[in-house]
Amino acid sequence: MPKSQTVREFSKSESSLDGMTSPTLPAHIAIIMDGNGRWAKQKGLPRVEGHAQGMQTVRTIVEECSRIGIHQLTLYCFSSENWKRPQPELDFLMQLLESYLIKERPLLFEKNIRFSTIGRKDMLPGSVQNEIDETIRQCSNNTGMGLCLAINYGGRQEIVDAVQKIATLVKDGNLSISNINESVISSSLNTSGMPDPDLLIRTAGEMRISNFLLWQISYAEIWVTDKTWPDFDISTLNEALGDYARRERRFGGLKT
Ligand code: IPE
Ligand code: IPE
Ligand code: MG
Repeated sequence: MPKSQTVREFSKSESSLDGMTSPTLPAHIAIIMDGNGRWAKQKGLPRVEGHAQGMQTVRTIVEECSRIGIHQLTLYCFSSENWKRPQPELDFLMQLLESYLIKERPLLFEKNIRFSTIGRKDMLPGSVQNEIDETIRQCSNNTGMGLCLAINYGGRQEIVDAVQKIATLVKDGNLSISNINESVISSSLNTSGMPDPDLLIRTAGEMRISNFLLWQISYAEIWVTDKTWPDFDISTLNEALGDYARRERRFGGLKT
C-alpha cells in the first residue's frame, strides 16, 4: 500500500481531531530521548557511553512500537542546537547515527518499517547522509510502522523553512494569501503526511520541549519520566501507554 494511502486511511479512522475521545493506542508517539549523559555520569562512565547505550533502547522501543501496532514513531536524535556540544561528542554522535543506520537496516526491512528523517540533512557528514538515503531507499516499499528520526532538527527552523516555501508559492502566483491555512502550513513542514503526535514522551525529567515539533504537538498528551533514555524499557513504555489510555482528550471541547 503506498505511504500516502496508509496515512490517509489511518487519519480517517483514528484522527484525534475529528472526535473527542482518544483511541486507546496513540497513532503517533514522539519521544525526546534525553538523559544519556546523566545515565553515564551516574555510572562513572564517559558521556558517550550513554549515547551508545541509548542506541540499544532505540532498538528495543522501535521493535516494540512496531509489534504493538503504533502507526508512527518519531525520535528526537539530534537537535539543531546540539551542535553546541564539544567536537568529540559530536563526532561520536555522528558515527553512532551512521552505524545505527547500517546495523538496523535489516531489522527495519524485516519488520516492514517505513523510514524517514526530519531536520536539515545537508549539514550532516556525507557518510551519514548516504546511510540515511540508503535506508530510505531500502525501506521505500515497506508499509508498516513509520519510523522518523529527527536529526539536526529544530522546530523553529522547520517553521522558517515552511514560511519561505509558502512565501515563494505566493510570490510565483501559485498560492493566494487568503488560501494560506493550517493544512497548507502542516503540509509545508518536514512532517507533511504524518498525523500529529498524540503522545509526547520525554525522558530524564526535564519539563521542556527543547524546540521539538512545535507546530505538531499542539494537542499532544505530554508524558515525562525521570528515567533516563538508556533506562527506558518496555515496561516504562507500557506505563506511558496506560496513562495515555486513561487521559481524556477534549481538544477544547467539553467532557463527553
Ligand atoms: C540526549 O542525551 C541525547 C542528545 C541530546 C543527543 P543528553 O546527551 O542530552 O544527556 P543529558 O541531558 O546530558 O543527560
Ligand atoms: C533535546 O535534548 C534534544 C534531543 C533529545 C535530541 P537536549 O539535552 O539537547 O535538551 P536541553 O538542552 O536540555 O533543553
Ligand atoms: Mg539532555
